[in-house]
Amino acid sequence: MQEVKIHEGIKEALKGITLSEDIGFGKYMSPIMIECNYREGKWHEIELKPYQKIELDPCTKVLHYGQEIFEGMKAYRNAGSEDVFLFRPNENAKRFNTSAARMGMAQIPESLFLKSVDLISSYSRKLIPRRQGESLYIRPFMIASEVGLGIAPSKEFKFIVVASPSAKYFSAGSIDVFVEREASRAAPGGTGRAKTGGNYAASLMTTVKSLENGFHQVMWLDAKEKTYIEEMSGMNFFAVINGELHTPELTDTILKGITRDSIIKLAQYNGLKCVERKISIDELALDIKNGKCTEAFVCGTASIIVPVGSLSDGRDIDVKLKNPNGIISSGLRENLLKIQSAQMESPFSDWIFRVSHIELE
Ligand code: COI
Repeated sequence: MQEVKIHEGIKEALKGITLSEDIGFGKYMSPIMIECNYREGKWHEIELKPYQKIELDPCTKVLHYGQEIFEGMKAYRNAGSEDVFLFRPNENAKRFNTSAARMGMAQIPESLFLKSVDLISSYSRKLIPRRQGESLYIRPFMIASEVGLGIAPSKEFKFIVVASPSAKYFSAGSIDVFVEREASRAAPGGTGRAKTGGNYAASLMTTVKSLENGFHQVMWLDAKEKTYIEEMSGMNFFAVINGELHTPELTDTILKGITRDSIIKLAQYNGLKCVERKISIDELALDIKNGKCTEAFVCGTASIIVPVGSLSDGRDIDVKLKNPNGIISSGLRENLLKIQSAQMESPFSDWIFRVSHIELE
């Protein structure tokens, strides 16, 4: 296991930190961060530092070729205890390495990843809100840090973890979704399944257009037929059809959401049938119109579960859900949040990790 180096200034940085009332999402950062460097074929010590700028040579490979991956995870506390919990962090560690492999980057030992997340959560514990739906959002990421303009995989990497107290991702109670019929986010054989910045960058042109037109989110369809629902770039999608939960089956163009997987497992545990299949956007629009589809929602670590209020492609589809905040999505959200913050026992024994309790000397 990697040595941990605690830099000077950590105690000072953490002194007197308080939680703002209006925390929003990703606005305020914990005053500390983790950094670990990969050089000469190995990972070096884990450094816990005061939050600071990263100095990069202008020719650092990540700046030119986008060799980068990240994760999103959360640490939770509840009103009744001093303990801090992580939700399925080993799944994030695994997915990080799947993304690393797809992007030609070094694998990171699961123990190093988990130790880093544990450290930042433990030292930032005062910044973890206790209100339901609020938490410490943790952003581990890795960049190609070798310098040089040659297009070749980097031999050096920087793994960094930052954290931010977070509340609601969307301020609206339900979201209006623009269905993109022309541009593509990811193509078969590409990087769609990896959690890499390029996938998010590819979504931004449509996001600009859709925000200007009053939408909150973009729904991406399969690149070939522009028919089958994939994901929202940052969130997975579910619909309640004929009382069953339906979600697009995973392909190499869809991110394997940990919240998505947890919802499927929780729903099945509660006796709700869950179907993973190809879902055509036209079929879904019809099912919303004829009342077979009663609820639709998006989900992810940052967003948790957010109901969809309407879907439009600016052409043929323009449908509204009658009662967006339905009983199934709100019940699943409630259950998930209670499990994540350890207010309710998890039916799955390996979902909840207790963070180490480290006292600052
Ligand atoms: C997350 O849910 O953690 C994500 O990475 C999505 C991002 C759009 C905030």
